[in-house]
Amino acid sequence: MHVSKEPLGGAGRPLSVPLVQSSAFAFDSADALAEAMAGPDGQYVYSRRGNPTVRALERTVADLEGGAAAIAFASGMGAISGVLLALLRPGDHVIAQQCLYGGTYAVLSDLANRYGVDVDHVAGQDVDEFTRLIRPRTRLLFLETIANPTGRVPDLDGLLAAARGSGVVSVVDNSLASPVLCRPIEHGADVVVHSSTKYLAGHSDVLGGVAVFAEDGLRREVWPRTVELGAAPDPFAAWLTLRGLPTLPLRMRQHCANAEFLAGRLAGHPAVTAVHWPWLAGHPSYAVARKVLAGGGGMVSFELAAGRAAGRAFVERVRLAQLALSLGGVETLVTHPASTSHRELDAAALEAAGIGAGTVRMSVGIEHADDLWADIDQALGDVHVTDHIDDQERQRGAARRALGD
Ligand SMILES: Cc1ncc(COP(=O)(O)O)c(C=O)c1O
Repeated sequence: MHVSKEPLGGAGRPLSVPLVQSSAFAFDSADALAEAMAGPDGQYVYSRRGNPTVRALERTVADLEGGAAAIAFASGMGAISGVLLALLRPGDHVIAQQCLYGGTYAVLSDLANRYGVDVDHVAGQDVDEFTRLIRPRTRLLFLETIANPTGRVPDLDGLLAAARGSGVVSVVDNSLASPVLCRPIEHGADVVVHSSTKYLAGHSDVLGGVAVFAEDGLRREVWPRTVELGAAPDPFAAWLTLRGLPTLPLRMRQHCANAEFLAGRLAGHPAVTAVHWPWLAGHPSYAVARKVLAGGGGMVSFELAAGRAAGRAFVERVRLAQLALSLGGVETLVTHPASTSHRELDAAALEAAGIGAGTVRMSVGIEHADDLWADIDQALGDVHVTDHIDDQERQRGAARRALGD
């Protein structure tokens, strides 16, 4: 059986980016194949090194972020690990924001424990706190535009200018803001990383990551390491991400509008003691968020007065929203960080990360805001949990830990 290789194109061009689902590419001459292996921008040879559909995604996201070039990855963690492994050497020093995505925190801890990279953490609001820590081996600053789940926004302009002035490479995880709300390269970032699993792709149907570089030289430095790492995306994953991207501005507008509506309603509810949404007056990052973000984003976290058991009960009682770990998709998702993403943290560490026992994180989708509020309101109304139950929960947790469960 021979599959026809006749060109598929006719007079008309496809409207969508063609999906080139091929692991390798055939050549007629040995010299041409050898030449094609020259570097990141050569001919397509093997899809771990480059693929037309993946390159279309890389160019699109580089353009959206105002960068010179990009590398796409199989996941956000692929992008973060790829960039850190490519840029850091043993003995290098990294300064990172305190409240980071857990996976990034884990990679930095691993680099510290196993590869002798020194890591310091900063709150991210104070440029002096950062500059005081800079030393000769300080190589990299790592920030997140909107931290998860606190909604903290670092002083991007101050920190990125200070990093550039000191020859420190800055990397900003822009997954929660997306280039619609913030373009960190315009604020002085050298590298922007994304979990494109989140808002860029936007439909909870694909994993992906992208690293965008302000200068092409940095991409050329990172690219060979990422080919070794082998975290290239499958072309279909890149195609699905491209499929989602044209609606990104529309989706972000709706995520932000719904989040604003719900943040306001939650702030007025008696069961809720605090709401974390960076564009809500009173949020610790309110002033900087109004300056660097074009919208408050789609993530709203809130504290329930009745504590841990109330948080857990709430996430089980929602009906339209769903209990799931991811964020940035069209559907509303809720989690209870203290018992899931941040369950390893003891009470002091939870407090340092700005997470309470009763914190609920909500990734607000694009459903009708009234339907969402009706759902949240009924789930809050149902949360009749007392501190007494909370105490029982704590005792059970202590017993489980004692048993090594
Ligand atoms: C801010 C942020 N960065 C990176 C990641 C990792 O992305 P992925 O799950 O696509 O590897 C996540 C995942 O939740 C995230 O929230």
